[in-house]
Amino acid sequence: MVPTGNELIIMTKHLISILDIKDYIHDILRTAGEIKKKTKNSEAYPALEGKSLGMIFEKPSTRTRISFEVGMTQLGGHGLYLSPKDMQLGRGETIEDTAKVLSRYVDGIMYRAFKHEMMLELAKHSTVPVINGLDDVEHPCQILADLMTVKEHKNTFSLKMVYIGDGNNVCNSLLLGCAVVGMDMVACTPEGYEPDMDIYHKALELARGTGASISLSNDPKTAVMDADVLYTDVWISMGDEGEEERRMKDFCEFQINSELVRLAKDDVIVLHCLPAHHGVEITSDVLYSPNSVVFDQAENRLHAQKGVMVYLMG
Ligand code: CP
Ligand code: NVA
Repeated sequence: MVPTGNELIIMTKHLISILDIKDYIHDILRTAGEIKKKTKNSEAYPALEGKSLGMIFEKPSTRTRISFEVGMTQLGGHGLYLSPKDMQLGRGETIEDTAKVLSRYVDGIMYRAFKHEMMLELAKHSTVPVINGLDDVEHPCQILADLMTVKEHKNTFSLKMVYIGDGNNVCNSLLLGCAVVGMDMVACTPEGYEPDMDIYHKALELARGTGASISLSNDPKTAVMDADVLYTDVWISMGDEGEEERRMKDFCEFQINSELVRLAKDDVIVLHCLPAHHGVEITSDVLYSPNSVVFDQAENRLHAQKGVMVYLMG
C-alpha cells in the first residue's frame, strides 16, 4: 500500500532473515565495530538503558543465550531467558497471544525456534522487534558475526568463501550475507543436502547487484581451490537427530581436515559457528590451527548482536 496524505505508517523492524537488513548490513557492522572498541576500552555505552529483551529458547544454546544476555547488560538493559517449558506457551498458549503479551512488557524479543513458521507468527503479532536467534531456515545473527570476523581478519569482502557441509540454516543465511556484501561463495554439500533453493535464487538475484559469484558444488576438493575462507557447521543440526546414521555416511567426504585446508590459499581462514564436533565435520588440528578464527568469531556474536539491538531497539 502506498502511503497517502497525512497517513502515518509505523512499521516494526524485525531481523528474521538477512534479507530484512540487506540495506543496513554495513551500517550494523560499522556500529558493531564501534561498540566493540568501546567495550575493549571499558567505555560504557548504555544505548539501551532501561530496556528489556525477552529471549525465548525452544532449543539449547551457549553462544546465542550468553551473548544476547551479556550484550543487553553491557548496553545498560536487561535480558530475560524464557523457556517455553516454564511459560504458558508450553501448556498451549498461542504464539499470537504470547507475542501480544510480551510486547506489553519488553522492548524486543529474541526467539530460537524449531519452525520458521512460528518465527513469522511471532513477528506478525509482535509490536516490538523480533530477532531470529536461529530457526530451521536461517541464523542471521551468526552470519553478522561471521562477516564481522572476516572483515577484521581480511579487511575486505573481495574474497572467496567456501562452505563445506550441510545446506542448513547457517548455509542459507551465509548465502544471503555473502551476496549482500559482494563476497563470492560456493556452498559445497553432498547431493540431496543443498541449501534452500528459494534462498539460493534470492542470493543469486542479490549477487547480480553486488558482483558476487554464488554457486553450488558437490565436490569439496575442487570447491576449496583458491578459497580465502573455509566454513563448516555440524552435519546434524538440532532437530535432525533422527537422521544421524544416514548423515554420517553421506557427509564423510565433507570433513574440513588439514588435507582439504592445504588445497585452499596458504592464508585461508577457517570458520565454524560452533558447537564443533571434533573429528566429525572438522578435525581438532584444524580447529586449533593458526588458520582458525573460530573463537574470534564466537566473540563477535556479542559485538555484532549489540549492533543489531541498537539498530532495532535503540
Ligand atoms: N553458534 C550458535 O548459535 O551457538 P549456540 O547454539 O551455542 O547459541
Ligand atoms: N545448524 C546448527 C547451528 C547450531 C548453532 C543447528 O541448527 O543446530
